[in-house]
Amino acid sequence: MRKLIAGNWKMNGALAANRALMEALLAGVQARSPACDVAVCPPAVYLAQLQALLQGQDAIALGAQDVSEHEAGAFTGNVAAAMLREFGVRYAIVGHSERRNYQGESDAQVALKAQRALAAGITPIVCVGETLQEREQGQTEAVVTRQLDALLECSGARVADMVLAYEPLWAIGTGHAATPQQAQEVHAALRARLRAALSVPQAAGVRILYGGSMNAANAASLLAQPDIDGGLVGGASLKAQDFLEIIAAAG
Ligand code: 13P
Repeated sequence: MRKLIAGNWKMNGALAANRALMEALLAGVQARSPACDVAVCPPAVYLAQLQALLQGQDAIALGAQDVSEHEAGAFTGNVAAAMLREFGVRYAIVGHSERRNYQGESDAQVALKAQRALAAGITPIVCVGETLQEREQGQTEAVVTRQLDALLECSGARVADMVLAYEPLWAIGTGHAATPQQAQEVHAALRARLRAALSVPQAAGVRILYGGSMNAANAASLLAQPDIDGGLVGGASLKAQDFLEIIAAAG
């Protein structure tokens, strides 16, 4: 399966820095056409800037970090999927653990966001993952299965058109990525759940990304696992050289 490497810039960036980063990334992918899909997900206010910078090429796609579960209306501060689409957005991260924690997003709300994105022609990248405490209590599989089941309940077979991202909370921003074996184990459990809910070929076609301290040094071993179909990269996506090395590791 063609892998996907997506950069989640989180709440980082500035007009001048974004331009410099994108110029370096575009030069890098033009010098060596990647054999994987690549996306960058800047804060929403920079989508127009990035759309302009990315015009005329298709090696790097544009993604958003969130999308409203509502279509339109009195939802101050929210951004609708159709609006994102107008700015050339192809992917939207939904249900990142930072939003689940700080904005109190529930499994059901995340599932609605994913459904709304898909309806507007945007591929949702739906994040799932356990806390350190949940892992230590042996609940990892139960937690990610519950999060995936909310998606399946809401969207059924259309989950086949989504991207999943396994992001263990204890690995995010800590410099301690999951080992390839730890990640593969959870990815395989997610794949098995998809197989049970969808058809076998559909389940095989769902890209499951790994996220959590992925960097230039550990990307190749993580991406070599049979059920790891790409990466959702935070900190390392803000440094052109590091992000390009991760892209190179994906094929
Ligand atoms: P880091 O790569 O900085 O650990 O962030 C991972 C992440 O949360 C991507 O969505």
